[in-house]
Amino acid sequence: MPTPTHPRPGLEGRTGRDLVDALDLLRADHVALAGLLQAYALQKDRWRPDKKRLATDAICVALDHHDTLEDEIFYPACERALPDGARLIAAARAEHEIMRVLTAQIGETEPDSASFDPLVGKLAMQLEHHVRAEEGELFPRLRDADVDLHALGAQLARRRAELIATKL
Ligand SMILES: [Fe+2]
Ligand SMILES: [Fe+2]
Repeated sequence: MPTPTHPRPGLEGRTGRDLVDALDLLRADHVALAGLLQAYALQKDRWRPDKKRLATDAICVALDHHDTLEDEIFYPACERALPDGARLIAAARAEHEIMRVLTAQIGETEPDSASFDPLVGKLAMQLEHHVRAEEGELFPRLRDADVDLHALGAQLARRRAELIATKL
């Protein structure tokens, strides 16, 4: 059986990393974030305050990177591509803002105080609601729109690499 020696039409010059679909990348972030928050909910009663701080720092950084990718790259693409994009994205940005307030409060609260776990619980609920709206309405609408989701995915992957590099 002959081995193909040329890339598929339309994919020339792209690397494997460039072929990430934007919606797959963002959905994978949602799964990872939900996993971190679920781990917190399951383990919080066993964890000492320093461990809770480590866990919530990881959650807050992952969420900050995800929301930054959406705010800077993904949401503007939605606003351009969807006729009612401005309305959808205004609501999504407002929800990001609510989560930013919560992550700031978590950062300012001592992990051994009585309000710490409820704040993390609030963040988990807010994120769940937000992800349901994105995956239930926004993502399918963008999938049907005339958008190069692989080019958008490549942009997201590049920006994520920059965000990670600034923390190293
Ligand atoms: Fe979002
Ligand atoms: Fe998201």
